[in-house]
Amino acid sequence: MKKKYIIAIDGPAASGKSTTAKLLAKKLEYVYIDTGVMYRACGLSALKNDVDLENDLELEKMLDKISIRIEYSGKGNKVFLNGEEVSERIRQADITKLSSEIAVIGSVRAKMVELQRKMGDKGGIIMDGRDIGTVVFPNADFKFFMIADVHTRAQRRWKEAQEKGEDLKLEDIENELIWRDKNDSNRKNSPLKQAKDAIPIDTTQMTITDQVEFIYDVIIRG
Ligand code: CDP
Ligand code: CDP
Repeated sequence: MKKKYIIAIDGPAASGKSTTAKLLAKKLEYVYIDTGVMYRACGLSALKNDVDLENDLELEKMLDKISIRIEYSGKGNKVFLNGEEVSERIRQADITKLSSEIAVIGSVRAKMVELQRKMGDKGGIIMDGRDIGTVVFPNADFKFFMIADVHTRAQRRWKEAQEKGEDLKLEDIENELIWRDKNDSNRKNSPLKQAKDAIPIDTTQMTITDQVEFIYDVIIRG
């Protein structure tokens, strides 16, 4: 493969984006960028600094000094917010909800998109999120939009929680996903939606290997 492509993968939570993107990045020797962690870090920053999300000035001050660093390794990604490791904290339920709430705000999105473009504009990247193919890199070389039945997605997240020793109710997880799908899809700024030129992939009945191979084949064909 001669060119260092920009590959965008969007879709709702637990559709399989990050697992696929991570494995694909390894296969292609590309850099993987998970943009969800950036909105999660913003949510945590607002919580820590007691920022009123309706106060533009407070938000602006927070965004001016925010530093988000992602360290990628085989063992899992480490996320640092203003120098402090927050990888585990940002996965907790309160931050998941807050990330979706803060992601509706135009100034927050503008700042994250600016950072994401800087991270990815040289190519050789796979970026996953909600608006990568529509807003961050509308000229991406390849765009994929992953979906899956909400019940299947809830089961996936439930299994993950079990493996971490967290005793969550499947029904609560499903309701949280439904709320977040709605909040992410109905917002005015960069809603979650399939780019016109994205290839849809319904992962409900697919394995992770199927997903990686499907995308890999498309990319190799150019
Ligand atoms: O990044 P996104 O939120 O779209 O999903 P993910 O974190 O890649 O996948 C959510 C969970 O579902 C992970 O634990 C995956 O291993 C699992 N998964 C699965 O079991 N089968 C698939 N076909 C895709 C994902
Ligand atoms: O891992 P999971 O799929 O549950 O969520 P995530 O990818 O970590 O994203 C958390 C939240 O950040 C999403 O529900 C969106 O509200 C927001 N987000 C966004 O608005 N735009 C992106 N490019 C990525 C995430």
